[in-house]
Amino acid sequence: MNQSPIGVFDSGVGGLSVLRHIREELPHESLLYVADSAHAPYGAKSPEQIQARALSLAEFLLGQRAKALVIACNTATAAAAGQLRARFGLPIIGMEPAIKPAAAATKSGVVGVLATGGTLKSARFAALLENYGQGVRVETQICHGLVECVERGELTAPATRNLLWRYIEPLMNEGADTLVLGCTHYPFLRPLIEELTDGRATLIDTGAAVARQLRRRIEEHGLAAAGPAGGACFWTSGDVTQGQYVMGMLCKEATAVEPLPPL
Ligand code: DGL
Repeated sequence: MNQSPIGVFDSGVGGLSVLRHIREELPHESLLYVADSAHAPYGAKSPEQIQARALSLAEFLLGQRAKALVIACNTATAAAAGQLRARFGLPIIGMEPAIKPAAAATKSGVVGVLATGGTLKSARFAALLENYGQGVRVETQICHGLVECVERGELTAPATRNLLWRYIEPLMNEGADTLVLGCTHYPFLRPLIEELTDGRATLIDTGAAVARQLRRRIEEHGLAAAGPAGGACFWTSGDVTQGQYVMGMLCKEATAVEPLPPL
C-alpha cells in the first residue's frame, strides 16, 4: 500500500499549484493528477453538480489505487469534502481559504479574499469567518473569469491584468494589506498580483500548508512511501493538446497528459 500513489484533483489546472508543494514535501511519493478542465469552472456550478463530479473523480483515482486523496480545489472542498469523507475510508485532504493566517498577518485590520462564488457562498466559508475572522474586517471578492484565464495559460495577458485589477483595486481601496488567494488557480497569477499591488499587500495561499498536512496524515496512517523519487501521471477531461500545453507550462513534471476516460 505504501508504494501506492496519492490522487490529486481540481476543476482544472489550478491544483498544480498544490501539486508542486506536495512534490517538494513528499519527494518519494507517486502522484496522480486529474484536471477536470472540461467542467471548469466549478465556481458557478451548484453544490450537487460539483459533488457528482468530485465523486466520479475520486472513484477514478481510487481505481488507480490511490492511497490518499487531495481535493486541490477550494470550491470542490466546500461542496464535496464531507460527502467524500463519509463515503471513502482513506485520508482525504481538502483546502479552504487561509483566513486564520491572514487575520494574524494583517496590520491594517482589513483582509481581502479572492475566491469563487461557490467557495464564498458556502457554509464552510461562513464557519471559517465565524471561527477565525473575528477582530478583522474581511472583504470578499468573487473573481469571475480568472479561472478561465489560467486554464488558457494566459498568466500575464493584458485581459488577465485588467480583470485582476478590477477585482483587487476595490479591496486595496478598502485598506486591505493582506490578500487571500482562495482558489488554487490564483497562485499562478501571483507575479501579476505582486506587480499590480506594488508590494503593498501580503499574499497568502495554502498550498504549502496542505502539503504538510498531507504528509502528517499519511505518516499517521503508516502510508509514507520510501525509496527512489516518485513519478507522476496526469489526466485531463478537456482538450488534451490544450491540457498538455498549459499543464506543461505550469508544472515541469507534466510532460505527458492523458485523456481522462469518460466517467
Ligand atoms: N481551483 C478551484 C478552486 O480552488 C477553481 C474552481 C473553479 O473551477 O471555479 O476553487
